[in-house]
Amino acid sequence: MGRVAVVTGGNKGIGYAIVRSLCQQFDGTVYLTARDITRGLTAVNELEKQDLKPKFHQLDITDDESVTKFRDYLKNTYDGLDVLINNAAIAFKTDATEPFGIQAEETIRVNYFSLRRVCTALYPLLRPHARVVHVSSSAGRLCNITGNTLKERLSDPNLTEVELDKIMHEFVNAAKSNTHVQAGWSNSAYVASKIGVSALAGIHQSTFNADSRKDIAVNAVHPGYVDTDMTSHKGPLTPDEGAVAPVYCALLPENTEIKGKYIWYDMTLSNWK
Ligand SMILES: NC(=O)c1ccc[n+]([C@@H]2O[C@H](COP(=O)([O-])OP(=O)(O)OC[C@H]3O[C@@H](n4cnc5c(N)ncnc54)[C@H](OP(=O)(O)O)[C@@H]3O)[C@@H](O)[C@H]2O)c1
Repeated sequence: MGRVAVVTGGNKGIGYAIVRSLCQQFDGTVYLTARDITRGLTAVNELEKQDLKPKFHQLDITDDESVTKFRDYLKNTYDGLDVLINNAAIAFKTDATEPFGIQAEETIRVNYFSLRRVCTALYPLLRPHARVVHVSSSAGRLCNITGNTLKERLSDPNLTEVELDKIMHEFVNAAKSNTHVQAGWSNSAYVASKIGVSALAGIHQSTFNADSRKDIAVNAVHPGYVDTDMTSHKGPLTPDEGAVAPVYCALLPENTEIKGKYIWYDMTLSNWK
């Protein structure tokens, strides 16, 4: 059975560029997934015009049924998975009119808990030497928040998913009562969500280090400030440039030492703490 790579949110922006680059470099089948079938198939069509051959599957990371369907499809078709790039995410614009508590709940639901959902569903399929990439952000560094106790809890080497889930819920509750800044957070739901994503990479790596499947690597990546819809096209990097570090992490060689790290867009190791 051939090797398989999956990219979430692959229909546009950095995810689309990651799919394109993997089609050129990955020795196996590349799945462009998207929550919207029309947008996903349009993206696949564009890549086919460039003589690339990604496959498509619908995947809405917020939807249990969609994730389960995709998991079953991968299990029945390939009985395994070699590369998972968790790219899909949202960011409210600075002029969004929704109350901050609502923005916080939605951002954490999509960027943190839905990424978690995909990992929980697909991790049992990972084969030895699999590579997992959590697309985080420069926003996902602890220096972006102020609370020392909070920073200590988030950077605790024994932090568990259950405790991290609790911290993410605490942020949402604090945001709803407008006490998040007093609680040590910043005034950005996106920052909180990406700090969660960065922390998750370390927790997942510790778990895989004790797994019978050898050499599974999970890294968090800051792709750079990129010209996409998310940044209202203000980022100076092209989506192809933003794809470089995520693809580098997806293609790390066997027995790499780059595991559970936070990687900057120029592919250097960086510190998220
Ligand atoms: N652009 C930057 O400068 C920058 C900087 C740091 C980090 N990042 C991170 O890089 C990643 C890609 O960002 P981008 O700039 O390429 O953003 P983008 O252009 O807004 O693309 C986001 C992608 O995620 C998809 N998505 C959103 N919710 C989804 C869901 N529930 N299920 C499946 N897919 C979903 C979107 O699908 P639809 O088209 O259906 O909405 C779209 O394909 C994100 O994780 C982002 O946080 C970006």
